[in-house]
Amino acid sequence: MRTLVAGGTVVTAADVVRADVLVDGEQIAAIGAIPQKVADQIIDASQRYVIPGGVDAHTHMELVTPGGVASDDFATGTAAAAWGGTTTVIDYAGHERGESLLAGLERWQAKADGKTHIDYGLHMMVKEVNDRVLADMGRLVSAGLTSVKLFMAYPGVYMVDDGALLRAFSHAADLGILVAVHAENGPAIEVLIARHLAAGKTEPIHHALSRPPELEGEATHRAITLAALSGAPIYIAHLSAAQALSAVRTARELGQRVFAETCPQYLYLSEGDLRRSGIDGAKYVCSPPLRPAWHRDELWRGLRGGDLDAVATDHCPFTLAQKKQGTGDFTKIPNGLPGVEDRMTLVYQGVADGRLSLNRWVDVVATAPAKLFGLYPRKGTLAPGGDADLVIFDPDARRTITAAGHHMNVDYSCYEGMPVHGRPEVVMQRGRVLVRDGTFHSKPGGGRFLHRGAPQL
Ligand code: URP
Ligand code: ZN
Repeated sequence: MRTLVAGGTVVTAADVVRADVLVDGEQIAAIGAIPQKVADQIIDASQRYVIPGGVDAHTHMELVTPGGVASDDFATGTAAAAWGGTTTVIDYAGHERGESLLAGLERWQAKADGKTHIDYGLHMMVKEVNDRVLADMGRLVSAGLTSVKLFMAYPGVYMVDDGALLRAFSHAADLGILVAVHAENGPAIEVLIARHLAAGKTEPIHHALSRPPELEGEATHRAITLAALSGAPIYIAHLSAAQALSAVRTARELGQRVFAETCPQYLYLSEGDLRRSGIDGAKYVCSPPLRPAWHRDELWRGLRGGDLDAVATDHCPFTLAQKKQGTGDFTKIPNGLPGVEDRMTLVYQGVADGRLSLNRWVDVVATAPAKLFGLYPRKGTLAPGGDADLVIFDPDARRTITAAGHHMNVDYSCYEGMPVHGRPEVVMQRGRVLVRDGTFHSKPGGGRFLHRGAPQL
């Protein structure tokens, strides 16, 4: 089956050109001026952008947390991703202490198997570092996982100490894989949480005030230092604070291989949202927390200038009923926000607002994450031989984000009522049309597990 996506403006991280895209089976066969007679079907893309399918490198489908299980599973979450123009997610698999990393991987693959609508890869969240875990990291590479995540936050749940970080970085450098870090100073945050609770400060805003940006900046600097000592590259996950961005920028100026992602919530929302009373504030609880509004301009500048490489969502939705568990005690509010469906459009809004170029948009939502996580050029760009994952995006559409209109399995939107430019009109993965003109055509199980290669840094 040959499909011609005709007459669109093809946007990649490097180019903006008027061109047709010929899809043959699962792959892109040609890009250029292509006669219509070579195709079995034509999809008109005139007045539209044709961009690579989005790559969201940070999701948590069905994550089990102390506050409950994230409300999107691999079926609902990847369907929502497809609606939003994302055709690849890299989800975070987890293991338990004392368990092999491979057992955790098996459990995660069982969750995803037969359910996903789009292709998916996995990272591994590593809860402890010992000889067995280090040996397992090599086995993960053979299984197609070329990145792991370590936490400097959540003592007693995920946190590892600095010695463990140093060992993991050194081993990752030998294996040629990428370590992602949740950089917040967990022990100091514990002290601040206890102080807030003791003073009767139990509202959602106190979640943020217990996790100040300085403690993200400090942890980011410490992680970068440990990575430098090991000769390992490092990826800072969900960077939210100007202090952390400054640590990234300084290290990059010194030539260190430091990479970082931010998330739409840190670009659009702020600490002010956590000051809403009761459940309304709880909707916005995530870690790192939303910051005072001035940080957002710094993050946009970082994205534009290249010190932030990617925008991922950290999609980890909880329903209002789940969020309500934290009424009267912010520590009981499950941490995480929905967002996998809105990412491509929210970052495009940065283009509409004059903050980012079209090329930079495509880079941060697709190309850079594909390169960093070993999927490029199969994913993350439009090129002959690559997977035919593409989005026909209507830049002139105007719409309003609402929970009533989204497909994520969660009963609120962080962006309720926000007017946005643009809509992913047609979403295609490996030649299959998943979404076209408001209709969903996919069935669970159409997505494949992605065996990822070495990071391209
Ligand atoms: O609040 C968040 N981000 N929840 C998801 C787990 C994590 O820390 O990434
Ligand atoms: Zn996360």
